[in-house]
Amino acid sequence: MGKASFRGQHVIITGGSAGIGLCMAHELARRGADLTILARGRERLDAARADLAAHGGRVFADSCDVTDAETLAVCIDRARAELGPIDGVVANSGYCHPGYFHELNPADLKRQVDVNLTGCLYTLRLTIPLLRENGGGFIAITSSPAGNAGVFGFSAYGATKAALNHLAHILRAEYARDGIRVHLLLPPDTDTPGYEREVLLYPRETKAILEGGRLFAPERVARQFADGIARNKKRITIGFEAHLLLFIVRYCPFLWDTYVRWKTRGGTDQ
Ligand SMILES: NC(=O)c1ccc[n+]([C@@H]2O[C@H](COP(=O)([O-])OP(=O)(O)OC[C@H]3O[C@@H](n4cnc5c(N)ncnc54)[C@H](OP(=O)(O)O)[C@@H]3O)[C@@H](O)[C@H]2O)c1
Repeated sequence: MGKASFRGQHVIITGGSAGIGLCMAHELARRGADLTILARGRERLDAARADLAAHGGRVFADSCDVTDAETLAVCIDRARAELGPIDGVVANSGYCHPGYFHELNPADLKRQVDVNLTGCLYTLRLTIPLLRENGGGFIAITSSPAGNAGVFGFSAYGATKAALNHLAHILRAEYARDGIRVHLLLPPDTDTPGYEREVLLYPRETKAILEGGRLFAPERVARQFADGIARNKKRITIGFEAHLLLFIVRYCPFLWDTYVRWKTRGGTDQ
């Protein structure tokens, strides 16, 4: 079976200049989409735009911080002016700053909420009216299995991702009648610049809990997300481990709690 096509669709991807977002951009561009990629850093955006253009579709790249609603609105207006009406949105910008909760400073806590949750709310608030106007489309929200399972050391991050899971559920109900499909993307541990940065901050217990898990290539993750969106899957999970984890936390949460207690026995480093 050939790959599902996104031919002629204009898709906006926040965080489209690196990691999973960039690989999603390549995957959708290969399948015929026109892409708008948004992120803060100009240099990576320009490099990404040049690479993406090689797939033959149209590409627009603009610099903005998703926590700045005014600039985001301007970028989305420019994207429409450049590439026309919007057919899909991947709200993907996000990051994890792990650590013992009592050691994370208020600025780190707030910034994760701002980027991961508020940035997604702003992105969708600005684009859903445009999708409605255009007769529907899709939104994909990049969450994490850590929004389902409480992972030691992921306090603020896990809370923002749990909120995104809930947001997806609500928006699906609110906008189904407008022809807007809502997908929740749950990446496994994926080899990206963001992942490389976060593992350096893992407390000893977080390492112990997550050790042994596979690290996925972002290209594979992007391919499966694109397939899942095309097949209208609501929740797109990748890899046996993530499926098992989601099953356990839903149907036998005591097993996850027991595993975490076992891995963290002896207390914290503090
Ligand atoms: N990698 C994993 O193992 C993993 C697992 C589960 C979930 N996730 C989720 O997947 C998403 C992508 O993660 P990733 O690992 O691909 O991250 P990444 O490698 O750090 O890439 C993040 C992208 O988002 C952009 N970005 C960051 N902050 C932004 C902001 N405030 N405004 C606009 N753009 C911003 C970055 O560009 P600039 O820095 O230039 O802005 C970059 O393009 C995140 O939501 C993450 O939580 C990742």
